[in-house]
Amino acid sequence: GSYSTLGEVAGKRVLVRSDLNVPLDGTRITDDGRVRASVPTIRELAEAGARVVVVAHLGRPKGAPEERFSLRPVAARLGELLGRPVAFASDTVGTSAQATVADLEDGEVALLENVRFNPGETSKDEAERGAFADQLAALADAFVSDGFGVVHRKQASVYDVAQRLPHAMGQLVSTEVGVLRRLTEEPERPYVVVLGGSKVSDKLGVIDNLLGKADKLLIGGGMVFTFLRAQGHEVGKSLLEEDQLDTCRSYLERAQQSGVEIVLPTDVVVDTAFPSGDRAPEPRVVAATEIPADALGLDIGPESGAAFADALRDARTVFWNGPMGVFETDEFAGGTRAVAEALTKIDGLSVVGGGDSAAAVRTLGFDESAFGHISTGGGASLEFLEGKELPGIKVLED
Ligand code: 3PG
Repeated sequence: GSYSTLGEVAGKRVLVRSDLNVPLDGTRITDDGRVRASVPTIRELAEAGARVVVVAHLGRPKGAPEERFSLRPVAARLGELLGRPVAFASDTVGTSAQATVADLEDGEVALLENVRFNPGETSKDEAERGAFADQLAALADAFVSDGFGVVHRKQASVYDVAQRLPHAMGQLVSTEVGVLRRLTEEPERPYVVVLGGSKVSDKLGVIDNLLGKADKLLIGGGMVFTFLRAQGHEVGKSLLEEDQLDTCRSYLERAQQSGVEIVLPTDVVVDTAFPSGDRAPEPRVVAATEIPADALGLDIGPESGAAFADALRDARTVFWNGPMGVFETDEFAGGTRAVAEALTKIDGLSVVGGGDSAAAVRTLGFDESAFGHISTGGGASLEFLEGKELPGIKVLED
C-alpha cells in the first residue's frame, strides 16, 4: 500500500508524527478537526498490525513540561475516534514512553506526551536536536510523517527523525500536498484568494507570491486596516501595523501594474472595544473610508460580504486563509459567514487553509463536505503557497 517503502509493517513499531495541536478550553477540546484528520493513517497502520507510536505537540511550551499543554485529553479523544484504546505515556522518550512502547501488542496504539516538553525538539542546535531525534528513533523501527501542520518546521520529530529511520508519507500529508499543488501549479482560472486574520506581517510572503498568480485578492480581517490606512483613510482604534504601511502601498501598486484585482471592504462593523464577557457588543456599520476615531473595526460589513461573495461567484479555484472578523462573537461573524457560504457554492476547487478559518467554518456550523478541502495546516499551507521548500516534505523526498 502507501507504506511500501517501509516493507511489511505488521509487528513493527511505527512512529507516526501527527499534528494534534487542537484548541483547548481547560481540558476540553473545542475543535477536534486535527484529531479526526490524523485518524486514517493511524487506523490503517494499526489494522495492518503495526505497533503505532504517535508523537505530537500541543501549543508552544518552552522545552519543559507544563500541565496546560499536556496531550492527555487528546489521547482520550483519539481513542474515541479510533474506536480502540490509546495508551498514554506521561513523557516523550523517558521511562514511561519506553515502557508504554514495550507493552504494545501488534495493532495497538500509544500517544507520547507533548514532544515540545523536550528542549531538543525545537532546538536550533543541530547536535542537540539530533541527540533528541536519536532517542525518538530508538522507540521505533520506522517513521511515518503525517503532521501536515508542522511540515514547515525543522524540528526533531518532523525532520531529524526521518533521517534516522526508514520513512514514508502518511495519508494526510499526501492528500494535503496533492491539493495544495493544484493551487500552485496551473490553477484553473479565475483563481480568487481570500485573506484575513489579524496581521499583514504573517501574510507578506503569500501576498508577494500570489500577486503574480491569482486573478483577484479579497482582503478582510484585522489586517485590512493597515491596507485602508495605506490608502490614506483613518482607521480609528482598529488594528494597525505602522511598519507595514509602505509594504501595503507597494502591494496595491504592484497589483495595479500586474492586473491583479485587490478587493478591500467598503463597509466595516465596528464597536468601541474588543468583545469581552462583561459587556454586550454594540456593533455599528460604517463606511470603510469613514471609520470614527473611537471605533475599532471587528468585521467587514454586509455590503462588503455581498461584494466578496459576488467576486467569488465565477471562481474555479479559491484559497481562503484567515477569518474576516472576530467570528467567535456572533455580532462580528457576518463577514466570515458570507465568505464561507460563497465557498460552498464554488464550481471548482475551494480550499480552506489555516487553523482559524478551518475552526471558523466548523464553529459557524457549515458542513465540511461542502468545501473542496479543509487544510489542517496554518503556517504550513501558507508557506506551501509561498512556494517555499518545506523541510518536513523535503526530508522525505531526499
Ligand atoms: C499550527 O498550529 O499551525 C501547527 O500545529 C504548528 O504549530 P507551531 O506554529 O506552534 O509550530
